[in-house]
Amino acid sequence: MTLPPLPGYPHFAYRNDELFAEEVSVSELAHLHGTPLFVYSRAAMLSALAAYQRGFKGRQAQICYAMKANSSLAVLQVFARAGCGFDIVSGGELERVQAAGGDMRKVIFSGVGKTRAEMRQALAAGIGCFNVESEAELNVLSEVAGTMKLKAPVSIRVNPNVDPKTHPYISTGLKGNKFGVAHEDTLRIYQHAASLEHLRVIGIDCHIGSQITEITPYLDALDRVLDLVAAIEGADIALEHIDFGGGLGINYDSSDTPPEADMLWRQLLAKLDSRGYGGKKLMIEPGRSLVGNAGICVTEVLYVKPGDQKNFCIVDAAMNDLPRPAMYQAFHAIVPVALPGIAENQVETTYDVVGPVCESGDWIGHDRVLDVAAGDLLAVMSAGAYCMSMASNYNTRGRAAELLVDGDKVHVIRVRESAADTFRGEKLLS
Ligand code: LLP
Repeated sequence: MTLPPLPGYPHFAYRNDELFAEEVSVSELAHLHGTPLFVYSRAAMLSALAAYQRGFKGRQAQICYAMKANSSLAVLQVFARAGCGFDIVSGGELERVQAAGGDMRKVIFSGVGKTRAEMRQALAAGIGCFNVESEAELNVLSEVAGTMKLKAPVSIRVNPNVDPKTHPYISTGLKGNKFGVAHEDTLRIYQHAASLEHLRVIGIDCHIGSQITEITPYLDALDRVLDLVAAIEGADIALEHIDFGGGLGINYDSSDTPPEADMLWRQLLAKLDSRGYGGKKLMIEPGRSLVGNAGICVTEVLYVKPGDQKNFCIVDAAMNDLPRPAMYQAFHAIVPVALPGIAENQVETTYDVVGPVCESGDWIGHDRVLDVAAGDLLAVMSAGAYCMSMASNYNTRGRAAELLVDGDKVHVIRVRESAADTFRGEKLLS
């Protein structure tokens, strides 16, 4: 028996029936660093970025990595060094960009609930743009900038009312979502923004959702946004840039067939050109598509528990490490790290792969056909995005360690949290 190729993960591959991350054996990493363990490939991040860079060749464009997808400092460093800016959504993320040496002028600040303190922090840092999501926020931002004798650079996030055809929790551009301002209110709100003394209107912004695998919702949203650009510029408010958000999906499953970033942008740029906006500066905020398939989570099988209705494969990673299945019924491929061979009588069995957390919602994969025994290692694929950044300490489980592989070099980019780390900052009663 040999292990199958892993299409979609060119930087993770089997060699002699053992999984490698770039030039490094994954089981060696697990033995050295323990499990659960996140392993990232730097080359995979840069090749995902290169697809966008190819798409934008010859254009004025700024890629702002949506760092909520994976905000580990070394990951930010990889993108900062490659020339990316960052899409942030909190003062905490701003501090992370500063700690990683990112360029503040390339930072855009999104989110519906920025506090005054966060506005002050971002203005003092000199960020590139605030993506404002409501009229009330415009007023507060102008007031805060006024107290600092500054003009805040703004773009307004518009809600194009387009269905991105993704999970309802990660669809954001439909009426009824909390995000952005309604299409029909946009011109009036832009006129209001232009009248506020301490704001400088510089762009327009839209983001319709996440894990989008079709091109049509993007094309429809772009048409709607360009209609607004025409109306706003018709009212003598110049827009320097169009920010088209993030959202491009990845292939978690072989049935997910998202377009490549360069192919998506070829079509979007053709539309921009045909409508006469090809010369405008573009900004984008991709997250998942830059890091999702650049990471795996390595986990050890603790127990195999056969049952009447279900067989369970109990592993040492759990919903606190990999929250997406519990939160969105998400699918992650689960593959062996090495060819089975520990126990002679192992056979392929259908398992629910579950973690040790005390909840039935703590599952990582349902009905997976695996040939496993206790002590085997499994790799949960596509774990580079929205896993560590959403990880928690539930059940007082320390968060996993993270490694970044670069060719044959391995960097420990986050040490495993101890139990004491998880209750640092807590106080006993006197
Ligand atoms: N820009 C804005 C304003 C966003 O809200 C998001 C994601 C992005 C950009 C990046 O989207 P991406 O390129 O990563 O799709 N935790 C969920 C995903 C939540 C996405 C939230 N916003 C998941 O694990 O599927």
